[in-house]
Amino acid sequence: MRFACDARGVRLLLRAMYRLARPLLFRLDPERAHNLTFAALRALGPVARAAATRACGPPDGRLATQVAGLALAGPIGLAAGLDKDGRLAPFWPTLGFGFVELGTVTAHAQPGNPRPRLFRLPEAGALVNRMGFNNEGSAALAGRLQRLRATGRAPRVPLGVNLGKSKITPLEEAVGDYAASAARVAEHADYLVINVSSPNTPGLRKLQDPEFLRDIVAAVRAEAGERPVFVKLSPDLEPGALDDAVRVAEVAGARGLIATNTTIGREGVRDPGPGGLSGRPLRARALAVIRHVAQRTSLPVIGVGGLFTADDVLAAIAAGADAVQVYTALIYEGPGLVCRLNRALVARMARDGLRDFAELKAAVRG
Ligand SMILES: Cc1cc2nc3c(=O)[nH]c(=O)nc-3n(C[C@H](O)[C@H](O)[C@H](O)COP(=O)(O)O)c2cc1C
Repeated sequence: MRFACDARGVRLLLRAMYRLARPLLFRLDPERAHNLTFAALRALGPVARAAATRACGPPDGRLATQVAGLALAGPIGLAAGLDKDGRLAPFWPTLGFGFVELGTVTAHAQPGNPRPRLFRLPEAGALVNRMGFNNEGSAALAGRLQRLRATGRAPRVPLGVNLGKSKITPLEEAVGDYAASAARVAEHADYLVINVSSPNTPGLRKLQDPEFLRDIVAAVRAEAGERPVFVKLSPDLEPGALDDAVRVAEVAGARGLIATNTTIGREGVRDPGPGGLSGRPLRARALAVIRHVAQRTSLPVIGVGGLFTADDVLAAIAAGADAVQVYTALIYEGPGLVCRLNRALVARMARDGLRDFAELKAAVRG
């Protein structure tokens, strides 16, 4: 019994539970599995948080790092889209995330695309989604975050909110849609992200064009105050368009870039229909974009796309990422993933006599 109560024991117990639950969850429709998991974690509330904290808890202090002035508790963050409405905001840090990105939220609540809209490709370690920004709207998220703060339950790691355009808003009015959301959520967030790279809202990726992007960054910055604003990029931009987007984001005052969103490419995987592909098949492309972008900007880069292992994380850092995010790997590897990655990074630091994350970054970049 004592064994079961130490951190390792709890970890083993939770891992065994996940191993039992995963085949059952994977037999369900992916969105149903997602909703059931969320419902269970919400119902368990403090119990789930206490168990996860016991098993994992915050990252080792040596993994702390600064990105765009944000003090990240560790370099691995939750990518946007998993918790669009912030329903589990207090839970994520207990899994070892050093920062958490909620959203995408839009100015108007919207149901998203018709189901089915989320597909597993387990043979490839991938997902395809065409969710279409199903979310309760930025006002609802602002309210939820305000209540969390008022009751002392807000996450104690940097919290980002990712903003998109409502489907009903025409492209020409996109600036106002982003600005309205930014105005609502800014005071409850530590950073804001402009998402102009989801493939699932018709025309959204057009907003990466300089004339749109410049105005959106300016408008969101005007609402963000001192908080850093990031731009999240698509892996499908041609090099010239990518360079333009990076330059415009930088000139307009973005403080960082997130690379990348999902791809419309289907190389080497079966195609369940329209949507964005994430997970292992995205990794090489995401790494190439991280490298390309990092070579052309002095802005910090958050790397995301197909990162499953500590070696994947180190490869992203070597390519120029200052921190990383994960989504799809969490679905396939389970809730212990981030904790394992953090521990592997610390083991690597210990092996090579590196004192902190800055030294690890310098070492892997050679
Ligand atoms: C089901 C699903 C929904 C997503 N929703 C969003 C979203 O709302 N906003 C966003 O910026 N990215 C969204 N993403 C993209 C992820 O944040 C991430 O950029 C992408 O999946 C690549 O990382 P991964 O391979 O670790 O999943 C979504 C991804 C998935 C799989």
